[in-house]
Amino acid sequence: MDFNKYFSSKKIYTIISELAAELECEVYVVGGFVRDLILEKDKKEVDFLIVGDGINFAQKLADKLNIKTLSVYKNFGTAHFNYNNFDYEFVGARKESYKKESRNPEVEAGSFQEDIERRDFTINTLAVSLNANSFGKLIDTFDGVNDIINKVIKTPLDPIITFNDDPLRIMRAFRFASQLEFEVDNSILLAAEQLAERLKIISQERITDEFLKILSSPRPSIGLKLLYYSKVMDVVFPEVASLGGVEQRQDHHHKDVFLHTCQVVDNISQNTDDVWLRFAALVHDIAKPATKKFVEGTGWTFHGHEELGARMMKHIFNRMRMPLNKLEYIEKLIRLHLRPIALVDDDVTDSAIRRFVVTADEDLNDLITLCRADITSKNPNKVAKYLDNYNRVMNRVIEVQEKDKLRAFQSPVKGDEIMSICNLTPSKKVGEIKSAIEEAILEGEIGNNYEEAYQYLLKIKDKFLNT
Ligand code: CTP
Repeated sequence: MDFNKYFSSKKIYTIISELAAELECEVYVVGGFVRDLILEKDKKEVDFLIVGDGINFAQKLADKLNIKTLSVYKNFGTAHFNYNNFDYEFVGARKESYKKESRNPEVEAGSFQEDIERRDFTINTLAVSLNANSFGKLIDTFDGVNDIINKVIKTPLDPIITFNDDPLRIMRAFRFASQLEFEVDNSILLAAEQLAERLKIISQERITDEFLKILSSPRPSIGLKLLYYSKVMDVVFPEVASLGGVEQRQDHHHKDVFLHTCQVVDNISQNTDDVWLRFAALVHDIAKPATKKFVEGTGWTFHGHEELGARMMKHIFNRMRMPLNKLEYIEKLIRLHLRPIALVDDDVTDSAIRRFVVTADEDLNDLITLCRADITSKNPNKVAKYLDNYNRVMNRVIEVQEKDKLRAFQSPVKGDEIMSICNLTPSKKVGEIKSAIEEAILEGEIGNNYEEAYQYLLKIKDKFLNT
């Protein structure tokens, strides 16, 4: 990578370099932007390290570029603006340390070296000088380039120090490993296990944000397994941690639900980038430990795990500060994840298929994507057979849908009309009559059309009005 060529080709870096000379301070591009340039990944956020007053530097630069909206975070000594769709962040060099029981860093001015060594990972310690006498020169104090080449996450200092400074970095280590498909150095695993409890001083939102970034990575199992084997999962997501382990009784053992789950999440990630569908894959068997039972003559059973799993979600969403508008979707996918397999038999009725379509509604395709990902057999014949089962169910669904156009199902006779025909004011009874019409359609007693629904209403209305 020719940094000189790259940074001289963009005018803003020349302006920054000139401003540094004017203000007699040093300025460097640091961190993720340099890392991603080497990895040839696009990044729209650039971090600048100023040896001196970072906020003052940003203010002077904003004036020069005629930028009106500069955000300044005095407590953190940082400033930020957006320019031509790039985010530019400025920070004065500092020694940073977290107080033992506090979330807020203590910030003190420091040298270039002190700042760089207090950063999280060697791959993020890379800096490119924008100073006139060394413009475009890469400064690689901790062998970060080598670690990029060798695909390994290491800390510049002893990881105990690095993680003590900011425990969120435990999550970040696993997140970068998962995003970049890198290994983490063994010392990180040991320090992560030792300091996992320190994550409790970090806000839940930031932990969840990292967790969801792991789930959004190409192969989330990398990060999930790091969390699990370092026991950090016990702290950040205990319900997932307790999926692990295998129990044997007589000749029966069940599969390790955590490892199965990892595979389901990896499988689904090949078919969707939607982090919430991936999350559904992560939690679809979440209640297996709680429902596990050994039945003589049968083996291990997990009856009702889909219902209990759905019910566990509200508490988990609240604790993890996850967006509550996704709760119902996740509950639904967990609750229904065994339904399609029950519809495979040839003698399943149209009405059973209809009920399924109506219940799954707009999430039908996501549910089937989850079911397909849930096939983790190593035997290719079995995989082919199970996939074919779902194809058959979906063919039945299409058949019935075409018959009934059921996807956006609702009684063809609407509430207003029921009220005027039955002479009712808005009340529970109107809903009951409407449901009865819908039931009759689902059961196949009448067709899904206005005329039949209307006639049916006339037929049943007295029964409802007389009770
Ligand atoms: N950093 C750190 N410790 C943290 C967060 C950030 O040392 N807990 C440093 C790293 O040098 C990092 C830089 O600050 O490169 C910028 O942080 P951030 O924007 O969060 O990360 P990036 O490395 O830019 O990567 P990404 O944007 O992909 O998260």
